[in-house]
Amino acid sequence: MLVLGLESSCDETGVALFDTEGGLLAHRIHSQIAMHTEYGGVVPELASRDHIRRVLPLTEECLSEAGKQLADVDAIAYTAGPGLAGALLVGASVANALGFALQKPVIEVHHLEGHLLSPLLSEPKPEFPFVALLVSGGHTQLMAVRGIGQYELLGETVDDAAGEAFDKSAKLLGLGYPGGPALSKLADSGDPTRFKLPRPMLNSGDLDFSFSGLKTAVLKLVNEQSPIDDTTRADICAAFQEAIVDVITKKCLAALKQTGMQRLVIAGGVGANRQLRAGLDEAARRRKLKVYYPPLALCTDNGAMIAYAGAMRLQYARDSYGYGAKPRWDLA
Ligand code: KG4
Ligand code: ZN
Repeated sequence: MLVLGLESSCDETGVALFDTEGGLLAHRIHSQIAMHTEYGGVVPELASRDHIRRVLPLTEECLSEAGKQLADVDAIAYTAGPGLAGALLVGASVANALGFALQKPVIEVHHLEGHLLSPLLSEPKPEFPFVALLVSGGHTQLMAVRGIGQYELLGETVDDAAGEAFDKSAKLLGLGYPGGPALSKLADSGDPTRFKLPRPMLNSGDLDFSFSGLKTAVLKLVNEQSPIDDTTRADICAAFQEAIVDVITKKCLAALKQTGMQRLVIAGGVGANRQLRAGLDEAARRRKLKVYYPPLALCTDNGAMIAYAGAMRLQYARDSYGYGAKPRWDLA
């Protein structure tokens, strides 16, 4: 079965073709980051309009790379939510229109399920069950995953998502948007010991997170150190990153302990963070646990994870068509 996957929940248009026999045949991502940069964040209306411009050309590129035609597609999967309403409607409209025209089934995919399953797109694949950490710009959640569709929420952020904390702190440090990758790069040259930042909820005894206090601590430091020089900026980045990595690592280990599971899967944009990967790998090595990551290119939003999740959920496909977009939608 050949599944076309469409992702348009935020600021990336992602399209991919996943074949249940041949694997991932093609995938394309168009990032709108450059377009939103001058506004310091995603402008929803601009995002929707750009998805409209990109989605069909990217689909054509994928088909051509895979040597396939639209008529070869057996099902169309799209991100139905959560995300920006207007942006989601672009993927929903295109998927349903194509499904109707081709008389092929359409599958609504939960964006986070896409992220959660993305490490299954590379070898070695994690076996079920596993603990999944979803760390993106919109979410920070720990899930127990016992199979496709069997998700139990173990803990989540009570305020900002980890990616949001990266982005907001980066903004306070004048690093532009989205600040996560920029902050992380600068942190490499900083001294993490010069400033001590809090580890919110590190010892809360549950699997929840809180990151807004960390952002406030960065704001306080920025004000105290003003005017800020390059060394100080890098040192704050390093301290911030170390605090986030510490908290996330400890909570992941606690989730593994609580569930008795041995495998940890990392998904979402912040999963691209090198320091986080190093911290988790080191902690896992000492405890003989295994950590799995999606390929770097599939850490942020992409169509491949949507096509893959769609392929895993073919039995839920529908052949009635309509505008199924769910800006708010809980996975578990
Ligand atoms: O999963 P994603 O592409 O989009 C959603 O939020 O769904 O994640 C984007 C987030 C942004 O907050 C971005 O700053 C963060 O992931 N991010 C990173 C890194 N790469 C992306 N944060 C820290 N270090 C990185 N290397
Ligand atoms: Zn995402």
